[in-house]
Amino acid sequence: MALKLNCKYLADFVSEDDIKAVEDETRSAYNKLYGDKASAAGNDFHGWLTLPVDYDKDEFARIKKAASKIISDSDVLVVIGIGGSYLGARAAIEFCKSKNYNLTAKGTPQIFFAGNSLSPTELSEIISICKDKDFSVNVISKSGTTTEPAVAFRIFRKMLVEKYGEKEAAKRIYATTDRAKGTLKELSDREGYETFVVPDDVGGRYSVLTAVGLLPIAVAGIDIDRLMLGAADAMKKYENDDVLSNDCCRYAAIRNILYRKGKAFEMMVSYEPDYTMMNEWFKQLFGESEGKDHKGIFPASAIYSTDLHSLGQYVQQGERKLFETVVVFDKPKCDITIEEDAENLDGLNFIAGKTMSYVNSKAFQGTVLAHSDGDVPNIILELETMDEYNLGELIYFLEKSCAVSGYMLGVNPFNQPGVESYKKNMFALLGKPGYEELAGTLAERLSK
Ligand code: PA5
Repeated sequence: MALKLNCKYLADFVSEDDIKAVEDETRSAYNKLYGDKASAAGNDFHGWLTLPVDYDKDEFARIKKAASKIISDSDVLVVIGIGGSYLGARAAIEFCKSKNYNLTAKGTPQIFFAGNSLSPTELSEIISICKDKDFSVNVISKSGTTTEPAVAFRIFRKMLVEKYGEKEAAKRIYATTDRAKGTLKELSDREGYETFVVPDDVGGRYSVLTAVGLLPIAVAGIDIDRLMLGAADAMKKYENDDVLSNDCCRYAAIRNILYRKGKAFEMMVSYEPDYTMMNEWFKQLFGESEGKDHKGIFPASAIYSTDLHSLGQYVQQGERKLFETVVVFDKPKCDITIEEDAENLDGLNFIAGKTMSYVNSKAFQGTVLAHSDGDVPNIILELETMDEYNLGELIYFLEKSCAVSGYMLGVNPFNQPGVESYKKNMFALLGKPGYEELAGTLAERLSK
């Protein structure tokens, strides 16, 4: 197995005795996913736990078939979705391929993500990119009613109909939504779009290994069998209630110990820019799962060494409320050797003959020690390389750690009641029927 939790830099912050002291508590949180499931908050959203093996095999085959069709008939795939309905797919594509996937893709369509903001500028740009190209749309919304993707889908559906006519347009729209209900499901059934399911017992931020993530990921030419295999092996590896030897539980326990010691901010860090969107996925997973009841570790992120030249000063010497979880890879996707230069005007000959990945690893080691000296605990997650298999394991590891950590914190890790507040206000301010009273109150507050 690929993933290793390395705690060697934590010794000054979290002792083995600290971990043993929360052993029972950790086991009880872990058991909320199994034995004590019945009493666990959010237990109707535990479907992701067995998803790597217990998924709809027929649908999986349809996903591959749809991906092949999109690859053969489209220059561009527009993926419309927000939050859990887009972050996982984008993160996986950038992790396995590149953050410059759209510039480097060969033989697979460019993939643009729309409907994840309300910015007209961003949407206009994607519209103009697609206009003169053959394109398909994968609209993803579990509820089928989220405003941001609905606005974008209305526009792209019209574009497809204008370009290809009703019948061909319907063949270029793939909808991933609830099995039975919601506006998107009704529309898809009426128009005859091919549909894929977000299972009832899998929440948005836990849905990357369902059709939500798998269809766009497969369109990018990524091997989704290997991705699922990595997750399935992780499922076996982390199904173990000896919580001291189960790294998901250790990570969850360490996070809670650090939180109780005043470390309320976790920065996920990678030295690979292709990890940027995984950081975003992590922030949603942990932020939406834990940030409630006025509790929770605030998830932040950085890409080093880039951000050592922006956030590095703060991390080293600012408020001492941070800890870092650093994801490192044994092997880079490719490497460059720094050559000797006869003049050595830049003074770099001392690293001539060394690879950039070697230099990057020294930046990592130097930084871990410096940040630890600066009272910033460092947890290290070691992976072999940035491929499908390692990603499958990492996704499962983080999902399970998040669930255990959330239960240790004493929250329901599977709801997100707070997300509704902005939506209600926005609907009221936009004049949506049914929100008249709230609209009056908000108007008064805004006019003060
Ligand atoms: O994790 C979640 O449930 C949310 O982030 C949702 O994924 C997000 O709000 C999008 O919802 P939907 O898929 O219903 O459009």
